[in-house]
Amino acid sequence: MNLINITVLGTGYVGLVSGVCFAECGHKVTCVDTNKKKIDILKKMKSPICEVGLEELMVKNAKAGRLSFDSSLVSSINSSDIIIIAVGTPSLPNSNEVNLSYIYQCVDDICSYLGKNMVVIVKSTVPIGTCDDLQKKIDSKSMQYKCTIVSNPEFLREGVAVNDFMNPDRIVIGINEDIFNKKSLEHLYANHISRGVECVYTNRKSAEMIKYSSNAFLAMKVAFINEISDLAEKYNADISDVSRGMGLDTRIGRRFLNPGPGFGGSCFPKDVKALIDMSNSVGLESSLISSIKSSNDSRAINIANRILSQTQKNDVVSFLGVTFKAETDDVRDSPIIPIINEVLAQGRSVKIYDPAGIGNAKGIFVHEESKKKISYFNDALESVKESSLAVIGTEWKEFKQLDPIAMKSMMKKSQIYDLRNIVNYDSFRKANFIINCIGKHQNEQ
Ligand code: UGA
Repeated sequence: MNLINITVLGTGYVGLVSGVCFAECGHKVTCVDTNKKKIDILKKMKSPICEVGLEELMVKNAKAGRLSFDSSLVSSINSSDIIIIAVGTPSLPNSNEVNLSYIYQCVDDICSYLGKNMVVIVKSTVPIGTCDDLQKKIDSKSMQYKCTIVSNPEFLREGVAVNDFMNPDRIVIGINEDIFNKKSLEHLYANHISRGVECVYTNRKSAEMIKYSSNAFLAMKVAFINEISDLAEKYNADISDVSRGMGLDTRIGRRFLNPGPGFGGSCFPKDVKALIDMSNSVGLESSLISSIKSSNDSRAINIANRILSQTQKNDVVSFLGVTFKAETDDVRDSPIIPIINEVLAQGRSVKIYDPAGIGNAKGIFVHEESKKKISYFNDALESVKESSLAVIGTEWKEFKQLDPIAMKSMMKKSQIYDLRNIVNYDSFRKANFIINCIGKHQNEQ
């Protein structure tokens, strides 16, 4: 196997996980981030993100001399065979449009310091046509060295990112240039290819499109099952059986058919918005894609109204789980946040417990009014004290083992709203709880 030198720009979920995992595959990797504080943390072998198995791999590969961290690309760029750009591409404020300034800054930096021919892989999620535009920008500089842009989107999920990176369903490579660059990509992914992972070679625009279409499609599945779950409630059907019965059809597939409070996180909402923006900018209406967003946006209010209808003004509502999903400390665009905001706005106080997300949640609810009415707990049971309703917001495993008898002794009213359909309904029923969940009639859990 040809081992290669890689510089990764950006140490967020995609950059850090990719860098560490490429080192684990045997390559020599320098992870670069302009945020010096982050680099200092990484140099101490601490991961700034909560990701299973990541720190162990950092320590192992740094010890083996395959992984290092730097706050500038200057010292690693010209000993690299490949540069990977994995910086953030957030939405612009109050807009569906993507902020590409970090990507362009990376390309400018690369061009400034380049002293050899280079393959530059864009792993960040970028709108269709961005890689071609980056190539044009580079070509217009008439540099001494050839710098080729390749699109290679990443499909890892937070919480299981290391496993997803090492065992992907596919690798997508968008490459418009010559066979030489295809060879360097084959070296990069030699470990994966030798294990039979399929590579989809295409042009850059199609690769960029595969990323957005995949995320939007999965988001559509979630939005769809959420709407079907509302229907199931009205018709006394059971959404768990409906999801299972649908998902066993291999054309549909079982995954991403769990109803809940709506999809969130730093990817689905942003990428659906970007796809709407891309459609509109070429004069297409794309009503289906637009309705993924509107369906999900209205979900928060819909859920908040249900919570409000089960409680009175001045009641305490406890939220167990505030992250956008389990196994992460990430609360960015968590569907629970707008629900909490609405519940607060309608005069309830809120108690929050989360096994990993409390620190980040404190950074979200910063308005003085919210601060006064929210308290945070390190223990699930403590967080339901004097509460009139316990809302399960995230599907953390520990919530499957909640003790309803102990909760009952703490709560003002024995009432639960399970937004993830995970608690043990038998035990809550035996403890005479009022049980609400998603997509099942009150008495049918
Ligand atoms: C998502 C994609 O799954 C990854 O393939 C992709 O690489 C990543 O975005 C990205 O673009 O970087 P992630 O944001 O980590 O990954 O989260 P998911 O596990 O996909 O969940 C997204 C949201 O959908 C969460 O709020 C989750 O609770 C919700 N969801 C998911 C459901 O409500 N029901 C389901 O059945 C599945």
